[in-house]
Amino acid sequence: MAVLVTGGAGYIGSHTCVELLNVGHEVVVVDNFFNSKLESLKRVSDITGKTFKTYNVDLLNQEGLERVFSENTIESVIHFAGLKAVGESVSFPLWYYHNNLTGTFVLCELMKKYGVKKLVFSSSATVYGSTDQVPISEDAPIAAVNPYGKTKQIIEEILRDLYISDEGWSITLLRYFNPIGAHESGLIGEDPNGIPNNLMPYISQVAVGKLQSLNIFGSDYSTKDGTGVRDYIHVVDLAKGHLKALEKVQSLKGVNAYNLGTGKGYSVLEMVKAFEAASGKKVSYAFTDRRLGDAAICFADVSKAKNELGWVAAKGINEMCQDTWRWQKNNPDGYVKNHDNLIEHDFPVRTSAADFLVSN
Ligand code: NAD
Ligand code: UD1
Repeated sequence: MAVLVTGGAGYIGSHTCVELLNVGHEVVVVDNFFNSKLESLKRVSDITGKTFKTYNVDLLNQEGLERVFSENTIESVIHFAGLKAVGESVSFPLWYYHNNLTGTFVLCELMKKYGVKKLVFSSSATVYGSTDQVPISEDAPIAAVNPYGKTKQIIEEILRDLYISDEGWSITLLRYFNPIGAHESGLIGEDPNGIPNNLMPYISQVAVGKLQSLNIFGSDYSTKDGTGVRDYIHVVDLAKGHLKALEKVQSLKGVNAYNLGTGKGYSVLEMVKAFEAASGKKVSYAFTDRRLGDAAICFADVSKAKNELGWVAAKGINEMCQDTWRWQKNNPDGYVKNHDNLIEHDFPVRTSAADFLVSN
């Protein structure tokens, strides 16, 4: 019985695959490698010493995805696959709605057809919109302010309707706060395309000398030092939260939303200082205007995840910065290897990470 991981080659997906394999789950990955590289999965195999099936399949391709269900005994699904850049979603809303919503429809239709009714969905704290009411609990108003966030909000609503239509479903909605950090091996981490939009990859690229200076968006917020405050969570803690969510969907029917964060807020300046301490590198910065749509302060009420999932984030800000730096320093250009010869084939291509262990 396997766990199907959609988007498993991506940042959070690859870290979650490591944790799943480490505790003995059989894993099947589906990814179209639009925002990731096969190399990340080869490294997941290297870290865990385990092999798993990987399908180069787009979720929008129903026929391709059906092969995955027909060729494997899938018991549950962790659904990471989606587009995630806020600015891009504002410029190309139809693309975002089509990819994220239709991908989820196709997936859920096939889950239904194959009797797989256990789902863990990657939602986001972005569904809470620009609220400054902190800490944010799961029953705070849902009010996403951009197309990316709205895809998460709409999918949450659709999944609730799915459960109303058939109470056999068990669905966990995980609302992530700000995932950062990397696996302690330094082998897998965040590999953004082009200039990073998010704070931590930007800081680490300044530290490694790829970017000159960080622009700090706003210095006049009503926060401890005037810069924005966020709830940064180590990606390995986040990955472990998925294991707890998986246990939850095994044991309880229904739809449940959980915040995954630390419950602590750090300012941009505090993150810069923590990163400098962890890396021994200077991070130059300049203050610029606020970024449109940014809240001043955002951190989670994490009591529901603690009480109901038995999960709390264990890693602190120093570990987050040290692990980010190890990944960045060891992989200044991210996952350079792309195994192009394999992933440029026309659909469908099925590859196994085991092949790479043997042939490389
Ligand atoms: P990521 O881009 O690294 O991973 C997403 C993966 O999904 C990529 O490998 C991409 O190629 C794949 N994908 C996208 N569309 C697909 C499709 N139609 N078919 C098959 N594969 C497809 O992103 P991530 O940071 O790992 O995020 C994972 C999930 O968590 C996303 O749904 C994202 O919206 C959500 N999330 C991320 C953050 C964050 O800060 N990273 C915060 C909140 C929520
Ligand atoms: C952003 C997205 C959110 C998404 C999350 C994770 C927006 C408005 N929100 O959240 O929907 O779920 O990323 O992908 O885009 N900062 C700088 N300089 C930078 C980058 C960021 O000062 O170059 C500041 C921001 O103003 C913010 C903090 O750093 O105060 C964190 O920013 P970021 O990493 O982009 O995360 P969020 O804004 O919380």
